[in-house]
Amino acid sequence: MQDLNWWKHAVVYQIYPRSFQDSNGDGIGDLNGIRNRLDYLVELGIDAIWISPIYPSPMADFGYDVADYCGIDTIFGTMQEFDRLLQEAHRRELRVILDFVPNHTSDQHPWFIESRSSRDNPKRDWYIWRDQPNNWQSHFGGSAWEFDQPSGQYYLHEFLKEQPDLNWRNPAVKSAMFDALRFWLRKGVDGFRVDVMWLMIKDDQFRDNPPNPGYTVGQGSRAQFLPSYDADRPEIHELVGEMRGVLEEFGDRVLIGEIYLPVPRLMDYYGQRLRGANLPFNFQLLQCAWSAEELASTISEYMAALPAGAWPNWVLGNHDKSRIASRIGFKKAHAAALLLFSLPGTLTIYNGEELGMQDVLIRPEEVQDPAEKRQPGIGMGRDPERTPIPWDSSPLCGFTSSAPWLPIGDANRTLNVQSSSSDPNSMLSLYQRLLRFRREEPALVSGQLTDMSATDGLLQFFRSEGSERFRFVMNLAEESRQIAVETGVIVASTSQSREGEHVRRMLSLEPAEALIIRAED
Ligand code: GLC
Repeated sequence: MQDLNWWKHAVVYQIYPRSFQDSNGDGIGDLNGIRNRLDYLVELGIDAIWISPIYPSPMADFGYDVADYCGIDTIFGTMQEFDRLLQEAHRRELRVILDFVPNHTSDQHPWFIESRSSRDNPKRDWYIWRDQPNNWQSHFGGSAWEFDQPSGQYYLHEFLKEQPDLNWRNPAVKSAMFDALRFWLRKGVDGFRVDVMWLMIKDDQFRDNPPNPGYTVGQGSRAQFLPSYDADRPEIHELVGEMRGVLEEFGDRVLIGEIYLPVPRLMDYYGQRLRGANLPFNFQLLQCAWSAEELASTISEYMAALPAGAWPNWVLGNHDKSRIASRIGFKKAHAAALLLFSLPGTLTIYNGEELGMQDVLIRPEEVQDPAEKRQPGIGMGRDPERTPIPWDSSPLCGFTSSAPWLPIGDANRTLNVQSSSSDPNSMLSLYQRLLRFRREEPALVSGQLTDMSATDGLLQFFRSEGSERFRFVMNLAEESRQIAVETGVIVASTSQSREGEHVRRMLSLEPAEALIIRAED
C-alpha cells in the first residue's frame, strides 16, 4: 500500500462541525472541540477528516453559504485555532480535507453585495443575472430566480435566495476562487471535497428544463423538470480539470467531488485521461435498496463502469441523507459496516455512524434546516442526521454545557462513545476492528473483486491479491442461511465472538450477520 497515493488507502471521516464537539458552551461544535477529540479519531483508526464548511457565513444553510472563502467563522473559532488543529492533526498523521463551496456564495459575500449594487458594477457578471427568469427550480423548492428590485434583474440561486450562484464562465471568478484554494493549500490542507460539483456550469443559453414525465406530486418543485440545462453541462469537465491542476501545484492532494448523477455520467468526472476529480463521490450505497440482489448489481455496475485506472470509492452516510441505522435498521447497519470495509478503494464515513447513531425525530418547533422550512413535511429535512455526537452518559452527553443546537435524541444517548468503548459488541468496537483490519490487509483496499453473487438473500464476493483471498458474505434474509465454504478462518464478523473461528465446508449465518473469511487452501 506504500506505493499508493495516501488518499487511495484512506478512510475519510466526515465531521459535521456544528455537531461534533462544543468547547465553549454555546451549544454548537467548534474547531477546538475537534482538536480535543483528535485522539479519539486516532484510536478509531481513520486516516483523514473532511470538515464541513467552517468559513464565515450567515449560516442560512449552515455554512454552505460562504461570506469569505479565506476565513473562519467565529462560531467555529479563529484562524489560529484552525492552524493549530491542522498542525495537531498532521502530528497525529491525520490528513485534513476542507469543504469547498464553489457553486454559490452567501448573499452577504462582499462580491455579491457589489454585484447587486448596480448593473454596471465590475462584479455584476460574477453572478448570473437575467432580465427574465426561466423555469429552473431551486433544490430547496420554488423558482431558482430572485428578482432584485433596485437593479431590476433576476439572479440565479440553485439553493436558497441567500446563496446566489457564481458565474464560473467569468475568468475573474475562476481566478479568485482558485486563489482561495491556494490559500488553504499553502497552509497544508490535504485536499477538498467540492460541494455540488456537477452544478457549477449552467447552459449558456439558459434553456428551460424539459418536464419530468416521472414527476409525482409531493416530490418538491425541482422534480417537475429534468435537470438538462442547469446541471452536468459538458463544459464542467474542463473546469474540474483546471481545479485539479491547482491542487497539483501543491503535490499529492485530493480532489473529491460531490456529484449526484447516474453512474455512467458520474464516471465522466474522473476526467479525460483521469485528469478530473480524484474521487467523484460514489453515493450508490446511500441510494440503493438494501437487498442482496440490489447490492450485488449496484456494486458490480459501479465497478464495471470505472474507467481504466480510475480509483473506486464508497460513501455510507453524510449530512444530507438519513443515517444508515435508520434506513436499514440498527442490526443490519453492522453488516453494512462490514460490507463497506470489504469494498475496494477509498471509504468515507459520516461522524456518528461508527456509534450506530440513528436519525433523531425533530419536532416542528425544533426545525433548523432551511430545506425543511421551505418545503415542510415532504422529507427534505436534514436535521435528523445532523444531531450532536454523544460522548458520554452525562445529561448533555459531553457534547456541550448548554442547550445543544439540535436535540441529542434518547436512542443516541445510549450509544455514547464512553459506554460503546467498553462494550466489545458495540458498533464502535466493530468499526475499530474493521479499521485496524483494513490497514493490515491491502487485498481489501486494492485487491480484485470477483465472483459477486446474490442468492436467497445472501450477498457474496471475493477480494484477493497475491496469495491472499477473502470471502465476504452477508445474510440479508429473514432466516438463517447455510453456505458451503472453503477451509478458512473468520477474520471479521458482525459478532465479535465469531472472529478467529475456523470454518470448513458448511457455515451458518444468522439474519443480518456478515463475515469476512480468510481462505486457507
Ligand atoms: C450540498 C451540501 C448540502 C448543501 C448544498 C448547498 O449538497 O452537501 O448540505 O445544502 O450542497 O450548498
